[in-house]
Amino acid sequence: MSNDLNLGMFQSTPKELDADSDARARCPVTGMAAEFEPFDDAYIANPFAFFGKARSDEPIFHDPKSGYWVVTKYDEIVRIFRDPGTFSAALARHPVTPLCPAAAEVRDSLDISVEPSLVDEDPETHRAHRKVFGDAFTPKRVEQVEARIRSIVSGFIDRFAAKGEADLVAEMLYEVPALAIFIFLGADDDHAVRVKQLGSARAVVNWGRPSEAEQVAMMHDMGEHWAFTKKLVDDAYENPGDNYLGDMVRLHKADPDKFTVNYLYNVMFLMQFAGHETTTQASANGMRALLEDRAQWEALCDDPSLIPNAVEEILRYDSSIFTWRRIAAKDAKIGNFDVPKGAKILLAIGSGSRDDAAFADGDKFDILRKQEKKHLAFGNGAHFCMGAPLARLEMKIILEELTGRLPHMKLVPGQAWEYIPTLSFRGIQQLRIQWDPNRNP
Ligand code: HEM
Repeated sequence: MSNDLNLGMFQSTPKELDADSDARARCPVTGMAAEFEPFDDAYIANPFAFFGKARSDEPIFHDPKSGYWVVTKYDEIVRIFRDPGTFSAALARHPVTPLCPAAAEVRDSLDISVEPSLVDEDPETHRAHRKVFGDAFTPKRVEQVEARIRSIVSGFIDRFAAKGEADLVAEMLYEVPALAIFIFLGADDDHAVRVKQLGSARAVVNWGRPSEAEQVAMMHDMGEHWAFTKKLVDDAYENPGDNYLGDMVRLHKADPDKFTVNYLYNVMFLMQFAGHETTTQASANGMRALLEDRAQWEALCDDPSLIPNAVEEILRYDSSIFTWRRIAAKDAKIGNFDVPKGAKILLAIGSGSRDDAAFADGDKFDILRKQEKKHLAFGNGAHFCMGAPLARLEMKIILEELTGRLPHMKLVPGQAWEYIPTLSFRGIQQLRIQWDPNRNP
């Protein structure tokens, strides 16, 4: 793809991304496209109804309003994920809403050097970089952080166990993934919450409909986050620790041709964002699904050995990334449609993971489900989520600790479910629970 695209989230939507205007002209506004309003409240609250209908009536459609080809069924999504030469990941972090001039001005004034890194890299460089950074993400490094994550989760529960009520998101799920990624990378976890705050507007700015003020504020936050990340890497360079970042520094020193120091800044910058909101929101959605279906929650409390499968079912049923983007690097076919180079594609991975053709009775939440196929929560193919083992571990620990300590918890009845409207991220912002502390085991 062109260098324009490679500027990632630091580039307002380039003209090239509109190259599918031909396709738009050819394609009438069809039934599903006419109904596709991804920022409407009803859709945000429950996109599954829309996608159930799309999968049966019109599984691939072009939405002239947003310019995306929307792909809803499992097999076609997997096929696209598995052909990164044709379907480039370069679009992954582009702002859905083009940056306003004031935010672009702040961006241009920042002393930061963002380049494509893993998630939006094209095959030629991605393959080599992923090998280095993926191979270093070893089971040993993940296991090494397990005990600390468990003690952090348990410490959060200690703070509210006697109260009888809590908002699980605010009082635990918001912070745990931030601390976990910091510990994994080897950063001082005192800064984890600040960094999470700095990244929190990014989902709205890149995937939502931010106001101009939000865009400008997010650019300033980004500058601060970049400076933090740069210092983190520079310090590790002087004194590499026994952690993932230390491993990457040692690899760089042994062979500087493998990747540049600037690339290392970029991957660390990416990982601190990729590892936070995603795991917070997937855990929150999962706790809601479990508590809404009490029998399944109780089954989990009675038999914690079911937890790893429950984690997979949560990720299949209601994960935190609902759609992910690709762009055609050359003229291509999506299903029976011919699409031109530059066509933008929205892979509805949350829909694919519920496709009956891949998962029997896909809309049913069932922690005992034999996972017939791999759900799509982490993508599929070359860019498959590098942090999946850490995310799975965190979710497992959270469920183990909560089922063990507060098995009698219930949802506060009648609570409203709030989501931040974005094209790709999906997660409840509050999860209020209550229990009788006298019955704590
Ligand atoms: C439940 C939590 C998570 C979910 C749902 C999730 C989901 C995803 C998805 C959908 C992708 C894009 C896949 C593609 O383009 O094919 C991705 C990529 C990535 N994720 Fe995650 N993720 C989660 C947690 C994490 C964590 C904890 C980390 C960091 C430790 C992480 C690091 C990454 C990285 C580095 C990539 C880019 C990989 C590449 O392009 O080679 N993620 N993730």
